[in-house]
Amino acid sequence: MNHKEIIQSTEKYVAEEFSSEGSGHDWFHIDRVRKMSLRIGIQENCDLFITEMAALLHDLDDWKLTNSESAGLSKTEGWLNKMDIETATALRILRIIDEVSFKGAKTNTPVSSVEAAAVQDADRLDAIGAVGIARTFAYGGHHGRLIYNPEVRIDMHEDFDSYKKSSAPTINHFYEKLLLLKDRMNTQAARTIAEGRHQFMLKYLDQFFDEWEAKK
Ligand code: NI
Repeated sequence: MNHKEIIQSTEKYVAEEFSSEGSGHDWFHIDRVRKMSLRIGIQENCDLFITEMAALLHDLDDWKLTNSESAGLSKTEGWLNKMDIETATALRILRIIDEVSFKGAKTNTPVSSVEAAAVQDADRLDAIGAVGIARTFAYGGHHGRLIYNPEVRIDMHEDFDSYKKSSAPTINHFYEKLLLLKDRMNTQAARTIAEGRHQFMLKYLDQFFDEWEAKK
């Protein structure tokens, strides 16, 4: 298979795997991340095949979506094998995926390649702005969380474990993650886009709290 065919097969496989995902990590999230990764990737002179593959596969074995640590080969490794992708390329893709995810306010997740920078930025951009707000409430609802409870304080998670276990209301998530993301972008292209989305969220939160207090 050539690169184009591998991308097409991967797209089909991932779309099927995510067809019944209701927590905001649906196929369209993957597709937006793919498009944004390529947009950033072009500006950053990335290897676009590796960038696109990593974007398509980045949530397949995500800790938020798979309940247990799966033993043996991950779905992603299995798929890369099946696509007969050479080992060096497969390892680069797997490394990018490993570097993409957000692990809490105080846990750093550095990237080791421009491709990882592009995909990580694209994934984080999808968590903010209008789409990010929608996804955040979808995820919260999926996990039975309250929209907001003024009595639950904001918690800047010290480590990945406490972040994973958090069951705080969804509004807290803005302060524990979403509003931090604009300063965590790797690329200039993403920083510019993030700034606009960040301002939109601040405006949204202002309106939210005004309505909460019956001020507007
Ligand atoms: Ni993602």
